[in-house]
Amino acid sequence: MDRATQPEVVFPSGETRPALGVGTWRLGESAARRSAELASLRLALELGFRVIDTAEMYGDGGAEAVLGQALDGALRGGMQRSELFIVSKVLPQHASERGVQAACEASLRRLQLEQLDLYLLHWRGDVPLADTVRGFEHLQRRGLIRLWGVSNFDSQDMRELFSVPGGRACATNQVYYSLGERGVEFDLLPWQRVQQMPLMAYCPFDQGALVDHPALRPVAERHRATPSQVALAWLLRQGGVMPIPKARNAVHLRHNAAAQGLRLDAEDLAELDRAFPPPRQPTPLAVR
Ligand SMILES: NC(=O)c1ccc[n+]([C@@H]2O[C@H](COP(=O)([O-])OP(=O)(O)OC[C@H]3O[C@@H](n4cnc5c(N)ncnc54)[C@H](OP(=O)(O)O)[C@@H]3O)[C@@H](O)[C@H]2O)c1
Repeated sequence: MDRATQPEVVFPSGETRPALGVGTWRLGESAARRSAELASLRLALELGFRVIDTAEMYGDGGAEAVLGQALDGALRGGMQRSELFIVSKVLPQHASERGVQAACEASLRRLQLEQLDLYLLHWRGDVPLADTVRGFEHLQRRGLIRLWGVSNFDSQDMRELFSVPGGRACATNQVYYSLGERGVEFDLLPWQRVQQMPLMAYCPFDQGALVDHPALRPVAERHRATPSQVALAWLLRQGGVMPIPKARNAVHLRHNAAAQGLRLDAEDLAELDRAFPPPRQPTPLAVR
């Protein structure tokens, strides 16, 4: 991956990271697919992807385990741990002050890491936010996580989070955001920009529905690119947005890496706005 063309985001702490990452949902679910999944994660690292998103939920820990194997190989091969930005998530039922300690320790064991770069509450459950924040703070003091954040929080949830002690230290909110699901542009994304808090965009391809969307083809043809690259380049140009597409296929991974060099022009953007209109009113958060 050419670092000169690599879009970046800045976290509230001031740390800068590549905007484009890799997702791991549906990995680690089947022993028969394990070696292929390992190969695709190794390729992702070889291609220069450094931001990798996973969760204790994915494959019931299986995604973290296969990622752990890939990371172990890369680190033994000389990759610096500080280059990587590894993100995992705690299930809401484990998100009590105490529960996050055990959940995080288990994630770290599977990932074969001593520290997570970012630990997210996967979605909001019954545990009061203040308890979860205290748990995250404790994990930071123990050195098990560097940053913490949330996922699937709408604007109201974010405001509530900011009202609890320590809540303003939230580093990111990971939500569904794609050309097909632009609701966050109405209020959440502008609010996060004011807080200088990157928005992690999950399902950037609408789980595959966008990758051959007819409305993307003319733009793609003008740039000798693929529709999936247009969908990704569009997210990357938003600023402060970190798309985390999942790709097991090697060609897909290469295309996604190359999408970082694709620059959409005003004509492209107007055409995309006509096909995928921006929200004109508050829209409930899309979730998967
Ligand atoms: N926080 C949350 O609640 C939440 C929810 C959902 C997802 N996520 C995270 O976000 C990640 C991404 O979301 P997702 O996996 O649901 O959906 P996605 O990234 O929108 O779509 C994945 C699909 O797109 C295909 N694909 C990837 N690159 C492609 C390319 N260049 N050309 C054509 N097809 C391509 C993949 O195929 P192949 O795999 O065959 O390459 C796969 O079928 C997840 O893996 C997970 O880490 C978080």
